[in-house]
Amino acid sequence: MRLEEVLSLANVEIFNTITEGIHIVDASGKSILYNKAISEIEGLSEKQVLGKHLLDLFPDWTKENSTLLTVLSTGKAIANREQNYLNFKGKKIRTLNTTLPIYDESRLVGAVEISKNITTVNDMSEQIIDLQQKLIKPVKRETGIKHYQFDQLIGKSEPYLEAIKLAKRASKSSSSVLIYGDTGTGKELFSQSIHYASERAERPFIAQNCAAIPESLLEGLLFGTSKGSFTGALDRPGLFEQSEGGTLFLDEINSMSMSLQAKILRVLQENYVRRVGGNKDIPVDVRIIATTNESPDILIKKGAFRKDLYYRLNVINIKIPSLNERSDDIPLLVDYFIRAYNQQMGKDVWMVSDEILEAFKRYNWAGNIRELKNFIESAMNMISDEHVIGKEHLPSHVSEVLLRKDQYIKPDPVNIEDLNAYLGNIEREVIEHTLSFYHNNISQAAKHLKISRQNLQYKIKNYKL
Ligand SMILES: Nc1ncnc2c1ncn2[C@@H]1O[C@H](COP(=O)(O)OP(=O)(O)OP(=O)(O)O)[C@@H](O)[C@H]1O
Ligand SMILES: [Mg+2]
Repeated sequence: MRLEEVLSLANVEIFNTITEGIHIVDASGKSILYNKAISEIEGLSEKQVLGKHLLDLFPDWTKENSTLLTVLSTGKAIANREQNYLNFKGKKIRTLNTTLPIYDESRLVGAVEISKNITTVNDMSEQIIDLQQKLIKPVKRETGIKHYQFDQLIGKSEPYLEAIKLAKRASKSSSSVLIYGDTGTGKELFSQSIHYASERAERPFIAQNCAAIPESLLEGLLFGTSKGSFTGALDRPGLFEQSEGGTLFLDEINSMSMSLQAKILRVLQENYVRRVGGNKDIPVDVRIIATTNESPDILIKKGAFRKDLYYRLNVINIKIPSLNERSDDIPLLVDYFIRAYNQQMGKDVWMVSDEILEAFKRYNWAGNIRELKNFIESAMNMISDEHVIGKEHLPSHVSEVLLRKDQYIKPDPVNIEDLNAYLGNIEREVIEHTLSFYHNNISQAAKHLKISRQNLQYKIKNYKL
């Protein structure tokens, strides 16, 4: 049966209810199905198209620029190819096409093209890029704008000071830096501090979150675009060029695709960029600070981070401890945030209650410093003329979680080499604390932990407590 006959048996109306454009041609290139969505995208009616050959409709099309014609000649599918063209109403259109060959047994009988209109998404993104570029410039000129510097990083615990020491060392050079830290641990603060303490301080610091925008736009944004790379593309420098002499902060670099990671590596190795669609090599002098919020080792194992890029970025490697790893710093941070919000809100709060401070030290801070800061901010909003923040100033669902005794602290896989040893350490610590709380009264400690006296005695011997 011919493809046309097969289609006439199917319920063709169904094609008109979907939002993707569908265009089916037979083996000779004649249109046999043209749904409503594609008709809206291209500005042609079904009547104008059906029965006509592709080249009668689009005389400029060739095998090189038409995916349908390419698939008809190669018999191979093309997935997710972007096409840019002016439609019949003269409107600039950008689509994302997947084109598949149709076979009857082994004979090629036609091809189907599925098109998604991404014109508006694209326009929006272009506007965002333009706005972003306009915003970057004034920031550079303005004086007195707040940039984070090392002396504003609050914390005195050993692992934190160790991280700061490394970061200060990083500010003395132009080597790439890789910062690894959980969400809200202060990766951006660290990066700014490094930049503003370095000899690049007078040059731009530009931050880009690599997870925040679609891959195809990220490439143009980073490397720039060249007029003619696609219809409507402007000549636009990328963030590499705009950070010339300064620092480019690539946040969540692991969310980039492997191929884009390879392109970043090339820039780092060769110190020049080529704009998308361009043919000129533009020299750049940019220091890169990149971050991940998962351990780079694990990301490499998962295949989300290129090893070669990792080695290149890892010249200086800083791990920022989570708030749970530096719980000694909690009182200091609480104090700092209270003072900051006092000033901002015109209040006179002195401290948090002992109960809350103890709970803060036990709490599993999944959102790290950002979460602590938010806690204090919301309590400061609730408090009126009292001076001490208590649980009554926290929303009930928050204080409930906060004051729960048996919290599970998410371990960082990097710290675990041997599960039994790790769990053993936790058990040892819990027993040690409980015994000291009950002044070494084994019966009371066993009762509290809900295990038998014999069992506790066995563990005490085992752990040599
Ligand atoms: N040492 C610190 N002293 C004071 N405030 C801090 C400190 N570290 C982080 N903060 C505050 O915590 C919040 C989170 O910091 P930042 O945005 O740098 O974290 P991040 O690691 O980049 O988080 P994400 O992974 O979510 O992007 C910010 O409001 C920042 O001001
Ligand atoms: Mg960040």
